[in-house]
Amino acid sequence: MNFNLTEEQEAIRELIRNFSLNEVKPLAAEVDKNHRFPEETVQKLAETGFLGMVIPTEYGGAGTDDLSYIISVEELSRVCATTGVIVSAHTSLCCWPIYKFGTKEQKDKYLHDLASGRKLGAFALTEASAGTDAASQRSVAVLDGEEYIINGSKVFITNGGKAETYIVFAMTDKTKGLKGISAFIVESTTPGFSIGKKEDKLGIRGSSTTELIFQDMRIPKENLLGKEGDGFKIAMQTLDGGRIGIAAQALGIAQGALDETIEYVLERQQFNKPIASFQAIQFEIANMATQIEAARLLTYQAATAKQEGRPYSKLAAMAKLFAAETAMYVTTKAVQLHGGYGYTTDYPVERMMRDAKITEIYEGTSEVQRMVIAGSVIK
Ligand code: CAA
Repeated sequence: MNFNLTEEQEAIRELIRNFSLNEVKPLAAEVDKNHRFPEETVQKLAETGFLGMVIPTEYGGAGTDDLSYIISVEELSRVCATTGVIVSAHTSLCCWPIYKFGTKEQKDKYLHDLASGRKLGAFALTEASAGTDAASQRSVAVLDGEEYIINGSKVFITNGGKAETYIVFAMTDKTKGLKGISAFIVESTTPGFSIGKKEDKLGIRGSSTTELIFQDMRIPKENLLGKEGDGFKIAMQTLDGGRIGIAAQALGIAQGALDETIEYVLERQQFNKPIASFQAIQFEIANMATQIEAARLLTYQAATAKQEGRPYSKLAAMAKLFAAETAMYVTTKAVQLHGGYGYTTDYPVERMMRDAKITEIYEGTSEVQRMVIAGSVIK
């Protein structure tokens, strides 16, 4: 497989790299410290077209390829993992399922606003008792004439309270188990929709993670995404793509921590020389760089398979598993190589280490990725 990026992909990387350095990096520490959702960055991302990258132009998107989008999440996360996940959850978990499973009417109605960034998107699958066991949904949707009435609640929803458009999963037929789950497009302005607890998190603290509560929430019948009972497969296929986005986020965090560490070890003097001149330090840097390159190859491979219409469920799981563990490995080493300074908020590596941890947990834990991989290779 050849990962010589095309001229267009290189140009997109340069564009988003400059955007990240000029607009995102200066806010990253403050956004983390104050648990502040970076509204102004999201606005600028919308204006520059980065919230509708993979959506075709006929629906108001930029119509770029998957790898260009993945590179963008990587570059944003290299300086601010919060910004990376806002874009990834919006694009992979909300825009994509509407594009993939929506009717022409649903695409016309929702994608223009999402792709232009006039509205932000989110994905609501997880419940208090349905995490890894995503099939055990307790939210219920009952058809009543021309409307579904949805009752239930969701937890840990990325972009919760900030998004206007949600992909919501609920049981339409409990007797059918996971084949009784359906997917719906829900607008935050719907009566009966409310935001519950906002999580106070270890990392990605600028990202909004909330509970959603649905109380006799009536939505038009036309907002069913796919057919009744298709919900679980829609969720799993959406997560296959979402996991490539999180792999890119993890990759970006790791690369960002390596960037910071190289700068630091060249500058930091001990025993009258830069610590970069010690082989013990050089070997750590070599290991970090090698892990990152391997994570990049897996992540780009998964994105390319998706782009080319080849199976990518296993490749996405491998990319997310490896990139997430790489992010933890590299950021932990980065703090260590910064010594006492790395443990303080004067340097960004402590934030990167906290941010890295979530990539081993959300959109399927590392254990779930191993289940998916094992299920695919042991037949
Ligand atoms: N694509 C299409 N179909 C799939 C599929 C996929 N990737 N994965 C499973 N399916 C289908 C299977 O083929 C099977 O269909 P049939 O019965 O017709 O054969 C059906 O779904 C059930 O499959 P399993 O028996 O494998 O399902 P399971 O209940 O054992 O679950 C699991 C498997 C891998 C553990 C799955 O439940 C899972 O991925 N859990 C983790 C969920 C997750 O990632 N949650 C994160 C939510 S989003 C988030 O983190 C918050 C955020 O906002 C970012």
